[in-house]
Amino acid sequence: MIYPIVKFGDPVLEKPSATVTTFDDDLKRLVEDMFESMYAAHGVGLAAPQIGISKRIAVVDVTFKEDAGAKLVLINPEIILKEGRQRGTEGCLSIPEFREEVTRAKTVTVRAQDSNGKFFEHTGEDLLARAFLHETDHLIGKLYISHVSALKRDLIKRKIKKLVKAGEW
Ligand code: NI
Repeated sequence: MIYPIVKFGDPVLEKPSATVTTFDDDLKRLVEDMFESMYAAHGVGLAAPQIGISKRIAVVDVTFKEDAGAKLVLINPEIILKEGRQRGTEGCLSIPEFREEVTRAKTVTVRAQDSNGKFFEHTGEDLLARAFLHETDHLIGKLYISHVSALKRDLIKRKIKKLVKAGEW
């Protein structure tokens, strides 16, 4: 099932998500639906709050279907190591049409559980490191625009307000 993507302005995007404690078939189905919804929206990462579900679940595939082995399910993820620095443009499916330069760590290790509840660690570089940070931020109610200057952030928010008024958001 493809879920519609929740857009900026919905409070679900700015509150911390709940820890997942039950690893059952419903969870596995939700994870599959999240991949399907992410691909349908042409994204490389999606967090559950972005489909209106306030649970600590994210899916990532920075290869966008190129490599089936690159599909990552992050349940209750925690960033345990950050190294180096990278500067690059970042966007978010919940803030469509906007992109901003964001400085992030270059290498990131995440510790998370898979769909069966099994703990694992995964280290990513560059885009994958960025995705780990972006998606785990979502699960604490933080959006990438919190990492840009207040000036730029206000400008984006003003533009979105106009789009909302025009019925285009
Ligand atoms: Ni996002």
